Amino acid sequence: MLVTGRVLAVSLLFSAMAASTAALTDWQHASSSLRQQMDYGRMCYRTVQNPYMYFGTKTTYGAVAGNDLQTPPDCRPMQVWLVSRHGTRYPSRKKIEELKKLNELKTMITAESTMCPEDIVAIKNWNTNLTKDDHYMLQRQGVEELKSLAVRLKRQFPQIFNNPYTEANFKFLTSHKQRAKDSATVFYQSVFNQNPENELPIVKTSDDRFYLYKCKQVEDDDDTKGLGEVKKFEDGPLVRSVVSRVSMAMGLKQNLSYENVSLMLESCMYEKAWYIQSRPAWCAVFTQNDFEILEYVDDLKHYYGNGYGNPIGESMGCPIVKDLIDNFKNISRGKQGPLGIFYFGHSLNVLSVVARLGIGKDNTPLLSTNFEQMKTRKWRTSFIDPFASNVIAVFYKCMDGNKAMILLNEHGIPMGKDECRTCPWEPIEAQFNAITSNNQTCNLNMCKNCAALSSFNLVIVIFAYVIHLLYI
Ligand SMILES: *[C@@H]1O[C@H](CO)[C@@H](O)[C@H](O)[C@H]1NC(C)=O
Ligand SMILES: *[C@@H]1O[C@H](CO)[C@@H](O)[C@H](O)[C@H]1NC(C)=O
Ligand SMILES: *[C@@H]1O[C@H](CO)[C@@H](O)[C@H](O)[C@H]1NC(C)=O
Ligand SMILES: *[C@@H]1O[C@H](CO)[C@@H](O)[C@H](O)[C@H]1NC(C)=O
Ligand SMILES: *[C@@H]1O[C@H](CO)[C@@H](O)[C@H](O)[C@H]1NC(C)=O
Repeated sequence: MLVTGRVLAVSLLFSAMAASTAALTDWQHASSSLRQQMDYGRMCYRTVQNPYMYFGTKTTYGAVAGNDLQTPPDCRPMQVWLVSRHGTRYPSRKKIEELKKLNELKTMITAESTMCPEDIVAIKNWNTNLTKDDHYMLQRQGVEELKSLAVRLKRQFPQIFNNPYTEANFKFLTSHKQRAKDSATVFYQSVFNQNPENELPIVKTSDDRFYLYKCKQVEDDDDTKGLGEVKKFEDGPLVRSVVSRVSMAMGLKQNLSYENVSLMLESCMYEKAWYIQSRPAWCAVFTQNDFEILEYVDDLKHYYGNGYGNPIGESMGCPIVKDLIDNFKNISRGKQGPLGIFYFGHSLNVLSVVARLGIGKDNTPLLSTNFEQMKTRKWRTSFIDPFASNVIAVFYKCMDGNKAMILLNEHGIPMGKDECRTCPWEPIEAQFNAITSNNQTCNLNMCKNCAALSSFNLVIVIFAYVIHLLYI
């Protein structure tokens, strides 16, 4: 009803994908072991064994998701709390227009090209059929991601999800963007086997839990220009070496511009996310090493945009993490509460929770100059914030007391001193009280209006940058 027919058409690809990656149980280990296994130079992309899948915030969920949604023995789930990014989407209006330029670039390939003939043919036959109307809409792979997440939750927690929908039982809140509303609707439909009777609640602009966009709203995030480190890395020797290799792959005597190489990457990443078994034509101009370097650009952007490289990154997650704790506290004290609390939004919403919980934090900051040193970094947006990324928290009543579990993209997050994944609630509550009651870092008043910011130029610069990254 709220979702268009096209969006509802569903592919079965995800389940195949999920099965093949089910073996990845720890997102941090997975990243380093896969790296070695998939090293290839300029091989034929069409026949390469395991094409690279780690494309930062444009990574497909199934490539990095875990399989840790389980109820421990002698426990009963009492409440499930979820923050989810929308599923795989189409590009911005501007990007859809720019991608058409690739039709011109594809004719520039010369006889000197170092790509195999099959890859060259694929590029020459490439075309785009996107229209302006597609911009930022949920793509059908995105529908499948939210649908299958709902199905897995329902299977794991029947005590929660087999209850009928009432506003008291289940709290939904979505961003006002169509792709987030559609993601929420698909989730609702898959859990309750019906359409929502009314439009699902949309977050108010005064709500600090989820509406983190106080000063200004920007539609297009795809043309983000970074803070210093991002720019330095993009202008630096590693990215220039990628540009040079891509130009040689195409058989050009001149170097392409970075912008043109970026367009090729966009086409490659999006098509891989939309059709996960496909071999997108433009991926063939890159080597694995190139992909890794360009992935670092995205990691830097988000690290300085809303991760640990940004002084207000951790603050932004406070109200929403406090919401989680307040809900679990009520259940732990025997109060009535909803069975499920579900938020549907954007990258920033998931990353704000991630940063507040201290997930993916490295001892060394990510810099334009330390790519090699950071190869085994924890801050990899491919693993933290793919399409449909999510944080799920579950509160259990067990024979031996209350317990809680927190998962990022269905990987259990080790908590507390003994790194438990299903942990006794009391020490977790104490730990969370500490991270949500600090007046300095748990106060978003500074972003309530722009005028208040005018004396803090640095903050403004950072904030303007954050706002660019918001709607991803
Ligand atoms: C666009 O192309 C893709 C793959 O080539 C195809 O699956 C899809 O149906 C096409 N969409 C339209 C609207 O023609
Ligand atoms: C292309 O870029 C590389 C790396 O920056 C540089 O070494 C090379 O000289 C450039 N080639 C041309 C033809 O300008
Ligand atoms: C980028 O591509 C466009 C054509 O789509 C072309 O006009 C422009 O010269 C290219 N820039 C470089 C530096 O390759
Ligand atoms: C917790 O319970 C109190 C009192 O019953 C209620 O006012 C409050 O809104 C609840 N908190 C949450 C997050 O539901
Ligand atoms: C934090 O703020 C509250 C209310 O604004 C106040 O009661 C409390 O004393 C403050 N705590 C600290 C540590 O400043």
